[in-house]
Order: sequence, then C-alpha cells, then structure tokens
Amino acid sequence: MNALPQNSAWSIDEHQFDPNAGIEEKLRFALRYAVLAPSNHNTQPWHFIVDGDRVTLCADRMRALFDAMPRRVTTRETFADEPVPVELQLRLEEAGAAEGADIVCVGNAAIRERLATLITEADHAQFKNPRFRRELASWIHPKRSQDGMPALSPGMRALLDLAVPLVGSVIRTFDLGGGMAAAHHTLVTGSPLLLCIATGADDAAAWLAAGQALERVLLITADEGITASYLNQPIEVASLRDTLRAALNLDGVPQLLLRIGRGRQMPHSPRRPLAEIVS
Ligand SMILES: Cc1cc2nc3c(=O)[nH]c(=O)nc-3n(C[C@H](O)[C@H](O)[C@H](O)COP(=O)(O)O)c2cc1C
Repeated sequence: MNALPQNSAWSIDEHQFDPNAGIEEKLRFALRYAVLAPSNHNTQPWHFIVDGDRVTLCADRMRALFDAMPRRVTTRETFADEPVPVELQLRLEEAGAAEGADIVCVGNAAIRERLATLITEADHAQFKNPRFRRELASWIHPKRSQDGMPALSPGMRALLDLAVPLVGSVIRTFDLGGGMAAAHHTLVTGSPLLLCIATGADDAAAWLAAGQALERVLLITADEGITASYLNQPIEVASLRDTLRAALNLDGVPQLLLRIGRGRQMPHSPRRPLAEIVS
C-alpha cells in the first residue's frame, strides 16, 4: 500500500504555544488548528487576515473555482427539469459585475420562448451561408484529435446516426438549418435558465470583461454541479443582435448567450499538448 505524503500542517506541537507572546502571534498559532477544518473536495476555500487582536475570515472563492477547472465541460444535451437556485443566479450576477459585465438571468418561460424563436431564426440564417457551413464542418471533422468540437449536440447526433465519417461533408454540403433550429428550440425551451452576458461598450476591453465574466460563470456553475452550453447565434447574426437586446431589455451590448442547468457529465473535448502551445 502506498503511504500518503506526510503533511506538516497536522504536526502541531502545542508546547510551542507561547502564553507570553503578543496577541497577533497567539492568534497565528491558533489558526494552525483552524486550517485543519474539512471542506468540500478539500478545496480549503478560506483566507485569514490577522490584524492586531482581530482575525477576519474571508471566503476564498477562487480556490473552489480552481478545483472546478478540470471538471468544467460544455454540455450540449438536454438539462434536467430543475430550477437553478435564485441564490446561485445572484452569485453569477455578482461575479459578472466584479468583471465589469452585466449578467442577465432569464427563467421566465415567455421570454425563453421568445429567445428560442430568435435562436431558430439565427440558425436558419447561419446555415444558409456556405462559408459558415464550411467553417463549422472544418472544426467538427472526425480526423481532428487535438482540437475542434465533438459532434455531440442532439442535432449533430441525428447526423452522426446517419453518417459518422461523413458528418463534416454533410454539414458542408447541405443546409441543415431546419434540423438544427428545431433541435435548438427544444433545448432552449427545455432549459431552466438562459443567461446573457452583456457589456456597456463593444470594444476590446468589453470583450475581455465578457470573457472573464464567462469564465467565472462557467466555474461557479461547475462548482455547483451545474453545466452550460452556448446559443450565441442571435448575437453572431448582426441583424438579430438588436432584437435580442430589445427582447432582454438590455442597456448594454449582448456578448454571449448561454443555457444553464443540470446535465449529464460529458466527456472532455481534446486540447493541444502544452509543448505545442508554450515556447
Ligand atoms: C467565447 C466562446 C463561444 C462559444 N460559442 C459556442 C457556440 O456558439 N456553439 C457551441 O456549440 N459552442 C460554443 N463554445 C463552446 C466551445 O466549442 C467549447 O468550449 C470547446 O469546444 C471546448 O469544449 P469544453 O467547453 O467542453 O471544454 C464557445 C466557447 C467560448 C469560450
């Protein structure tokens, strides 16, 4: 049996406690016991600030989020019919605000239906465009092993059932907008929550803020066992972006549209080896 590595945090010699030491030193000694507390996945999501005779205990949420990084995955399947807790929605809104982005959560069924219609319209517009089809096909090519997207969405799955090695050429050649739109409509109306990330401006700084807000949203939800997938089509189709903005009553510019819910843990998509990326 392999011995677990020794961890010095557990070897506290109480005789080292100095009753004549200053209060700050005494408190620091006491904290050696505080850090032995258990935590979910042993993430130890805390930080202590010692200032004179005062100890402030802070939640170090980034540690929990760090733990969520290898577990996060995009889930393009249907989600469970289970509401996303309001407290989690508030936490996501706060996380977006901390990055300078607006997070708008949409649980209302009538608005979700309106957005589903917009997504459907955008699917049709995108798939009519041969350049869009060519680009999409190139990224879901079955020969790709270190990058690209798995052909796993419900719309794609129907295709895969037909022709696994041909999926790229089918997408490239045929306008599948109708099938994709129908699949997305079902996914959207069946998702408990849609979430839009918006920014005040639409420049490089705003895109960075939106990306950072996205990362926080994805990690916070992953930490709660909740997953997400993307429905950016009405943002990508320029003529529908303002319609989306009006439908959501947004002051800012919509940058990303996601659906959020509890889904099956999907396999990870590949990543390129570090040696190829770091020089
Ligand atoms: C900014 C951004 C936009 C994305 N847009 C889409 C999208 O429109 N449709 C989609 O299916 N996936 C979209 N994705 C998901 C990526 O395809 C996915 O993150 C990638 O395949 C890696 O898979 P993983 O998230 O499971 O690790 C987007 C991801 C990011 C970061």
